[in-house]
Amino acid sequence: MAVPPILVTRPIPEAGLAVLRAAGSAHEVRAAEEPPDRDALRRLLPGRTGLLCQLTDPIDASVLAAGDALRVVATMSVGTDHIDLAAAAARGIVVTHTPGVLTDATAECALALLFAAARRVVEGDRMVRAGQFRAWGPMVLLGVGLAGKTLGIVGAGRIGQAVARRAHGCGMRIAYHSRTAAPQLERDCGARRLDLDSLLRESDAVSLHCPLTPETRHLLDARRLALMKPSAILVNTARGPIVDEAALVDALRTGRLRAAGLDVYEREPALAPGLRDLPNVVLLPHIASATEETRARMAEMAAEDLVAVLAGLAPAHPVAPQV
Ligand code: DGY
Repeated sequence: MAVPPILVTRPIPEAGLAVLRAAGSAHEVRAAEEPPDRDALRRLLPGRTGLLCQLTDPIDASVLAAGDALRVVATMSVGTDHIDLAAAAARGIVVTHTPGVLTDATAECALALLFAAARRVVEGDRMVRAGQFRAWGPMVLLGVGLAGKTLGIVGAGRIGQAVARRAHGCGMRIAYHSRTAAPQLERDCGARRLDLDSLLRESDAVSLHCPLTPETRHLLDARRLALMKPSAILVNTARGPIVDEAALVDALRTGRLRAAGLDVYEREPALAPGLRDLPNVVLLPHIASATEETRARMAEMAAEDLVAVLAGLAPAHPVAPQV
């Protein structure tokens, strides 16, 4: 029996499936909640013309090679570090992603992590649930205020700027490090563009918003973490491998860094040894874009682009081919 031309690797919001149905596209949704591994993808891909995938799916050269009829890979994510873009380009496979639509959700989550880490929200919640809230106390769970402090943004793209604007609205000063200048951000928020080491030295909190590339892997290594103020907070909603997680555990454990708020991990879903035992880190399961509205729109965008490519049209959100 012929396989349906489109493979959807995980269950996705109905909005995305509705797009596929409206286009009359035959598709199969892999039922498992767990991500497929390379072997599963290689087994499932022959005969498929379209793949709607997730950031958990390893779309490497060997997987793409198994897609003998594959014309488009539409990922339901803005990040594309799970896809071998050069291998896709070499095979003439179009890759699309979902930029823009998750900007607000991710910015809100970065701020949630920042405030939770600064004000010890999770520790407080645990204390109350454990029945340890006996009385208001002048020295109980003292956190650190953020108004008037400097937030350093690493990567001033759409999401970085959205975080900066919100933090500025909360009274924070803004510094940023980015390949390209953000003059509007400088005008609107008085943001200062700094080199990375200066930004780390001067910031009271640092939020990461750059893509994961060979250049940004371990961008925050032990040396750079040591540049941060001991009173500072690190927030990561971008990609785990941008930070040397073992070095971060060390910095948090020894008090060389006050606190961290993490949505992403170096070897997701595994955590570096010791991370889960630290009280001064807030840990989320990679949910920065996980609002009902955002995930529905991401699914829709991925499906729309996939259908467009298979119809011979230009997709709205192509990823620039790499060679
Ligand atoms: C993305 O789209 O790359 C995000 O990490 C998903 O939350």
